[in-house]
Amino acid sequence: MAMSSAMTDRVTALKEFDDTKTGVKGLVDSGITSIPVIFHHPNISLSIPSTTYLSIPTVDLSLSRPIAVDLIRSACRNWGFFQLINHDIPLSTIENTISAVRSFHELPATIRSQHYRRTPGAGVSYFSNLDLFLSEAASWKDTLKITFGPVPPEVDQIPEVCRSELVAWDEQVKEVAKQVMGMMCEGLGVKPARLEDLTCLEGRGLAGQYYPPCPEPDRTFGSAEHTDAVVLTVLIQDKIGGLQVKSLRDESWIDVKPIPGALVVNVGDFLQIISNDEFKSVQHRVIANSTNEPRVSVAVFFNPGSKEDMNLYGPLYELISNEKPACYRNFNMSELVNIFLAKAVGCKSITEHFKHK
Ligand code: OGA
Ligand code: NI
Repeated sequence: MAMSSAMTDRVTALKEFDDTKTGVKGLVDSGITSIPVIFHHPNISLSIPSTTYLSIPTVDLSLSRPIAVDLIRSACRNWGFFQLINHDIPLSTIENTISAVRSFHELPATIRSQHYRRTPGAGVSYFSNLDLFLSEAASWKDTLKITFGPVPPEVDQIPEVCRSELVAWDEQVKEVAKQVMGMMCEGLGVKPARLEDLTCLEGRGLAGQYYPPCPEPDRTFGSAEHTDAVVLTVLIQDKIGGLQVKSLRDESWIDVKPIPGALVVNVGDFLQIISNDEFKSVQHRVIANSTNEPRVSVAVFFNPGSKEDMNLYGPLYELISNEKPACYRNFNMSELVNIFLAKAVGCKSITEHFKHK
């Protein structure tokens, strides 16, 4: 099929942007006052106002375990998101992690560009828009991605400005995720180690996101609407805000208000599938940063570490019955990864792909 000239122009512009190797931050530093057309989202409708009086649930880990388990279960069913507080990770550790990611993105262009590459599957990479060449429009953010497991990175490949902080964060977040997964299992009524036994703590990808101030925040997103194609995401964010969750009740967008020291936890597609739709992987997005300070968030994505093709995943047998048959077919991890890589981040979630019709 011949490409229209508008499409070739777009591909050329995307390549030119990618070749700068300095991301959106590089554009902002060059002093632009309007955003390039490749970032224009068609039909951008921020028209649905966010409901400021609603917020996603908060789960206080200092409550008794049965109460916390109940809160987590209802949050995972009704929101797919919650903010975890009193989890024992010191506020200073969270702040240091965020600062370390900010420091990387604010390294001189010549230094940070040395890390620029589009191979997010392993090791360390720095890029702007994972789906740059697949999506309809690019978004106003850059990412430092480090794969911590199942294969650990070569530590000296991690940029020195954030090395010790991110290695330490990976350890901390794994501990909390272990606790949370145990409680999720209890909430589902399966044995507490079920997710851990499926190696769900082993596959870990850290995304250090940087959302520079955007001169035309009404034309683009920080991150377009998507669900996370993972088991679980644990995210920390600075005080700027901008993350929004689509309410399952009425499809309105709810702000995830920054709470100092809180961890934002959300259910991914994989967990929705293996929970046989008990838990929900919910659409979320980040609005473009309209403040004059950059926004930083650090997400850790948890996935099964075991990617053997003979390992089939699907709804847990404990959650399948005559009353509630399996909502999804079984699949292996390479199928899942291929689907994920072939689609733009904002497209139909992988749950649709495996759903029994
Ligand atoms: C993501 C994501 C939200 C944020 O990385 O998948 O949704 O606030 N990030 O950065
Ligand atoms: Ni996400």
